[in-house]
Amino acid sequence: MKKQVVIVGGGPAGALLLHILHRAGIDAIVLERQTREYVLGRIRAGVLEWGTVELLRRHGLGARMDEVGTPKDTINIAWKGSELLSVDTHELLGKRMMVYGQTMIQEDLYAASDEAGTHLVFEAEDVALHDIDTDSPWITYQHDGTEVRIDCDYVAGCDGFHGASRPTIPASIRREMIKEYPFGWLGVMAETPPLPMLMYANHERGFALCSSRNANLARLYVQCPLDDTVDDWSDDRFWDELFARIPPEQAAQITPQPTIEKSIAPLRSFVSEPMSHGRLFLAGDAAHIVPPTGAKGLNLAVSDVHYLSESLIAAFNGNPSGLERYSEIALRRVWGAVRFSWWLTGLLHRFPDQTDFDQRAQEQELLYITGSEAAQRSLSEQYVGLPFEDVVTA
Ligand code: APR
Ligand code: PHB
Repeated sequence: MKKQVVIVGGGPAGALLLHILHRAGIDAIVLERQTREYVLGRIRAGVLEWGTVELLRRHGLGARMDEVGTPKDTINIAWKGSELLSVDTHELLGKRMMVYGQTMIQEDLYAASDEAGTHLVFEAEDVALHDIDTDSPWITYQHDGTEVRIDCDYVAGCDGFHGASRPTIPASIRREMIKEYPFGWLGVMAETPPLPMLMYANHERGFALCSSRNANLARLYVQCPLDDTVDDWSDDRFWDELFARIPPEQAAQITPQPTIEKSIAPLRSFVSEPMSHGRLFLAGDAAHIVPPTGAKGLNLAVSDVHYLSESLIAAFNGNPSGLERYSEIALRRVWGAVRFSWWLTGLLHRFPDQTDFDQRAQEQELLYITGSEAAQRSLSEQYVGLPFEDVVTA
């Protein structure tokens, strides 16, 4: 088989890249290891930067998002038990966010692929990349017990943190930087009306977050020790802990219901540089991971795909400048979000070795943001998303 672009991984990064390339008339294929049902069963974060919203609309993917997504104008941080810092990004910058679950974006992308008849292969096993540092890379994989070979012009590695793409960049060239945080997030889904606002909480007992999926579906998180399992967290314990960490006024607005999903995820920051090697280009979690505190994971996957799709389209039209600059330009935006997510994680969580001094310093920073428009603008412009650069030059 011959394709212009082989995309390894059919998560949000890979499926979005397939969609955009197809609309530009480029023949691409996605090779996804899991089944379609498995990918659609994964629950992920749900806050979109406005740049992400506009990009999805521009590529014809905005209909359901605009129907059921919830635009949000404020970032809210509860602290010291009952204080509530509310930063109005729309008033400060004219930009807002959209709460719309990543699972629904994934559904929208697969539906768009079905409609356009694009080539998505599920249960592609043992995907291997060959000759990526030549002009004729090729891919092999197993499907239904037979080996398939695809020759191509370019390979997009969109196969997440544990994928096969990144390790094919020689270790002598790759620089991997990682920071692991000494806690996790216990996340639950509950069929109960959510708070009208998105609210983070800094509390002596640990971080908490109240988000939503729709008018009767709340998405809620509490910080927990890394070695906890979901069996340690009965529903009663979860609700007690959440209500202890958020202000009484907001707690009173949430009616506890049995949870319908419960999982624990560790927090880490990770970046692998460069994001390209020869004819291989990494995008999304394959190249970087952020802790969920800043809600940047999906947004970064989308911004990488924006840069990569523009670069590939230009390259097929004879201008390779974008591909040459892709890693440098993408990494600049990646590091902006990685730094922001690390800072917000540090500001809002209770660290195991945290002293009263550290707690006071966090609270002082929240008091400072409360009183400083400059600090609120800085928080806002990073939360709503840093601007895109032009990746392709004339
Ligand atoms: N071969 C083929 N597919 C693979 C392989 C492989 N060897 N390894 C992994 N995959 C698939 C996974 O099954 C998954 O569906 O690649 C896909 C990667 O998808 P994601 O992990 O969702 O990563 P990405 O598309 O970059 O999206 C980033 O997802 O993890 C969240 O917070 C993150 O929101 C962000 C978004
Ligand atoms: C979510 O809605 O799941 C969510 C919201 C904000 C975050 C992380 C997750 O920072």
